[in-house]
Amino acid sequence: TKKALIIPAAGSGRRMQKETPKPYLKIGGVSILEQTLRPFVLLSGLRQVVVATSDEYLGVAQQILESIFPEKVETCVISGGEERQHSIYNALQELTSVDLVLVHDAVRPFVAKQHIEECCRVADQFGAAVLGVPAKDTIKRVDDQQFVQETPNRAFLWQTQTPQIFRKELLEEAYEDAIRHDFIGTDDASLVERLGKPVKMVKGSQSNFKITYPMDLELAKLRINN
Ligand code: C5P
Repeated sequence: TKKALIIPAAGSGRRMQKETPKPYLKIGGVSILEQTLRPFVLLSGLRQVVVATSDEYLGVAQQILESIFPEKVETCVISGGEERQHSIYNALQELTSVDLVLVHDAVRPFVAKQHIEECCRVADQFGAAVLGVPAKDTIKRVDDQQFVQETPNRAFLWQTQTPQIFRKELLEEAYEDAIRHDFIGTDDASLVERLGKPVKMVKGSQSNFKITYPMDLELAKLRINN
């Protein structure tokens, strides 16, 4: 199967309280973006990589891509949008002819290659597959005053990670439909779910955490150094 990888890397990183956007902070002497891309370098069938980033970092991102991917993988860097979803929509416009599209956050540097491959297999079979882990904490649904409305059975709750992998036509249809209806989701699968199409969770690992808060950055540095 021919594959394309989309990396949204255009977040402002408000929760990190740093000047440099998260993907360009260094861990172990290397940018988080580069660490994140490494597990995908030898992925079989990978034809294309598109990174969406803020305008000041277009050149930096292109250099990183060229330094780690072999020449046969087409790479491009584009400007991101206001929300993650807009960044990915922009990236979708660049895709060439591939079967599967992998979307992976720029700030998840610890995904295991075996989990990427397993997720690709499941997406190939069912159309849409998402890496995740069973919820560790009990999750409450609250109202806007923080009063608890519901405690869903934890046995059926999973935390969603990336990569989220889709047949290309399905992801394109989902994004077009979301744009048409002004729907903004916090992940890609939720756009596909709106179409009533199946999305299968694939069990990954807690190590595939997203670097969001300063504490996550500390944890990432510890992991790299061990
Ligand atoms: O904000 P959050 O941590 O959920 O962002 C997940 C990923 O989406 C990050 O890699 C971030 O850089 C990216 N993003 C983006 N465009 C935005 C907002 C976030 O590419 N407008």
